[in-house]
Amino acid sequence: MLAISVVGTGYVGLSTAVCFASRGYKVIASTYDVDKIRLINDKVPPFYEPMLTELLTSGIESGNLKAIYGREEAILNTDVTFVTVGTPELADGSVDLTFVRKACVEIGRALRKKDGYHLVAIKSTVTPGTTNEVVKPILEVASGKPAGRDFALCMTPEFLRQGSSIYDTFNPDRVIIGEHDETSGDALYDLFQEFYDNNVPIVRMNLASAEMVKYASNAFLATKISFANELANVCEKLDDVDVNHVMAGVGLDGRINPKFLNAGAGFGGSCLPKDVKALVSVAKAVGCKTPLLSSVLDVNEAQPLHVADLAISTLGRVTGKKVALLGLSFKPDTDDIREAPSLKIARRLMDKGAVVYAFDPAVTHIEGPNFEDLTCASSIAECLQGAHCCILVTEWEQFKCLEPEDFIKNMSEPVLIDARRIYDTEKFSRKLHFLAVGLPLDRKTRRP
Ligand code: UDX
Repeated sequence: MLAISVVGTGYVGLSTAVCFASRGYKVIASTYDVDKIRLINDKVPPFYEPMLTELLTSGIESGNLKAIYGREEAILNTDVTFVTVGTPELADGSVDLTFVRKACVEIGRALRKKDGYHLVAIKSTVTPGTTNEVVKPILEVASGKPAGRDFALCMTPEFLRQGSSIYDTFNPDRVIIGEHDETSGDALYDLFQEFYDNNVPIVRMNLASAEMVKYASNAFLATKISFANELANVCEKLDDVDVNHVMAGVGLDGRINPKFLNAGAGFGGSCLPKDVKALVSVAKAVGCKTPLLSSVLDVNEAQPLHVADLAISTLGRVTGKKVALLGLSFKPDTDDIREAPSLKIARRLMDKGAVVYAFDPAVTHIEGPNFEDLTCASSIAECLQGAHCCILVTEWEQFKCLEPEDFIKNMSEPVLIDARRIYDTEKFSRKLHFLAVGLPLDRKTRRP
């Protein structure tokens, strides 16, 4: 079995590391974060992710996985390196390649000292052309060796979702291999065939096309969500049209499929917003207009504000009133609040003078000057206590089992806005003032 190194220990890197280790590969996770090294080697996940504790524990205890400081030892002692460092967003929406460049210089320098053949596979999300035009020259100069002859070079975009990183790593719908040359592609193909036991479709293409697959996929998912949210807003104004019923009917068309058609508070997270913006920026750089993608972003920007406005228009005067937010993370099963709709909803409400409390099973505090006034409650009951309105923002499992009585007994006025459509409309409308994204206004304004 080949030995694997993973450069970068975020969601992608660590999930890749623990999953390969669990299948018997020797894996070295390389990072410069000494806290993370200690945590990983102590079997403590550095972030919340289902199944990570179990796989980290088995990986470390079996001796298959270890985290180390720096790159050289990781490269010299393995056959394959996955580059998974972050590619943050720059102010103009383009991608910051600082970490990728730095990683490649270090990998190249290590390759200079190495005799055997080595495969470098970029998993970080990079815009089309990056692996060929940035990564390859850096590796070649730093190593003094040509790609394709002395080392293999591939790009394999990652499609895992936070909150199901481990499941997705083991069960991808497909694997994309962008290859610098056929021999490089063969090396990664063989590794994935072995890892997935020949059970996952693998599509091979050139480097830039593989890079584009990632952006196109995320842009399409974002488009589906914004489409559902735009229709939800229309449905709210119509007489008797529920967006959930509409999307259930639409999604059963095999050409469309039901996934990512859930209207809600908008998409957040570290990928969808960033990747759509990056794609718009790539298009702009080559003189292409992207009105569709720009609208997808505009709809998404407006959606959390729309949710906040549902509360504001229902409450009338908001100043001094307590609004309870259930959920802060951008989606369930993660403690990640990057681009989370909850923050935009909270900000809007606080700007209008509301007193905002929030409860999230994984997020216990929010840092940053903008959110000093936001109180993180330690329980659902504390969050709801005395509230004039509650907004269900993130569909955590433990919120789904709440009953109308849980809101009625704690709140000062039982007004509930379901921004993720997790509650039964009939049941909740009978007992409290119930509003929901994509639910007709006539029903929403009907008080019990
Ligand atoms: C996404 C892609 O799904 C994944 O393939 C890629 O590798 C990384 O980006 P992630 O950001 O982890 O994954 O979350 P995802 O499950 O895609 O959800 C993104 C956002 O969209 C969340 O805020 C979620 O609440 C929202 N969403 C999703 C909707 O509002 N409606 C939907 O129907 C689906």
